[in-house]
Amino acid sequence: MKTRHFLSIADLSKKEIEFLIKKALEIKKNPEKYSQNLRNKTLFMLFEAPSLRTRVSFEAGMTQLGGHAIYYDIAQSTLGKKESVKDFTKTTERYCDMIMARLYDHRQIEEMAANASIPVINAMSNREHPCQILSDLMTIQEKKGALKGKLAYLGDGLNNTTHSLLLGCSIAGMNIAVASPKGKDYEPDKKIVAEAKRLAAKSGSKILITNDAKEAVESADVVYTDSWMSYHIPAEQEKERERIFRPYKVNVPLMKHAKKNALFMHCLPAKRGQEVTDDVMDSRQSIVFDQAENRMHAQKALMLRLAGKIR
Ligand code: CP
Repeated sequence: MKTRHFLSIADLSKKEIEFLIKKALEIKKNPEKYSQNLRNKTLFMLFEAPSLRTRVSFEAGMTQLGGHAIYYDIAQSTLGKKESVKDFTKTTERYCDMIMARLYDHRQIEEMAANASIPVINAMSNREHPCQILSDLMTIQEKKGALKGKLAYLGDGLNNTTHSLLLGCSIAGMNIAVASPKGKDYEPDKKIVAEAKRLAAKSGSKILITNDAKEAVESADVVYTDSWMSYHIPAEQEKERERIFRPYKVNVPLMKHAKKNALFMHCLPAKRGQEVTDDVMDSRQSIVFDQAENRMHAQKALMLRLAGKIR
């Protein structure tokens, strides 16, 4: 059987997303039932960028499934310096059952998957953050009861989370509006938008790409933002980016344009006072910590599926 990888949220069909969400919610409710399903299995976790949620949710998730996870920092690694991606992957698969990698260059994770006989999971690249969006869709399903209505994303459009949200909402059938500053350094990648439009035509959802924050948020069911300073952005750009992104800050006046019962989401880490104000982060509408928790449940379902333990 062909090994399945998870490099993009678009690797999953609408039906598969719905199946994984259903399983993730079941696992969350009854974790004991799955506590031995990955017994004696090892997850290799390779990190080029920092992480709290991804690292801990995968490692804790693997422990809860009866398996083990190895954290491997690229700074201590042979990859790219003394060893090719191919040789690195071909060696790792002799010890482990699954690879999870956070690499900046999406082409590297594609190369890893092309050479792996075990499943490879994209734990965030410059192009996409599919694990985040799988668990975000689970969180929306859990809180709203269905994947429908409108999600408004504000801020950095040229961002892995934005890209995966565009694809994920389009597959699932949710409308999505992205508002970011004008220009190729801030707007979503045109190829991703084209792919999302193709998927949206299939599911019947609508996509709006705009530079107007209020237009995006108008009547939204979910308002979502992410850091303006992704891990790869040099610190010296912070002042300039803060000026450019300021109109997209999620604050109480902006939230008033959304529906009364709209939810606020952020994949975290958040810089409070920058992309979102404290009064929104700490409001009753904010579900950011439930969202963070669901990373673990959704990834447990994903790992069980890739290991062939659920179908
Ligand atoms: N949201 C997210 O991926 O968080 P980390 O960078 O802490 O893993």
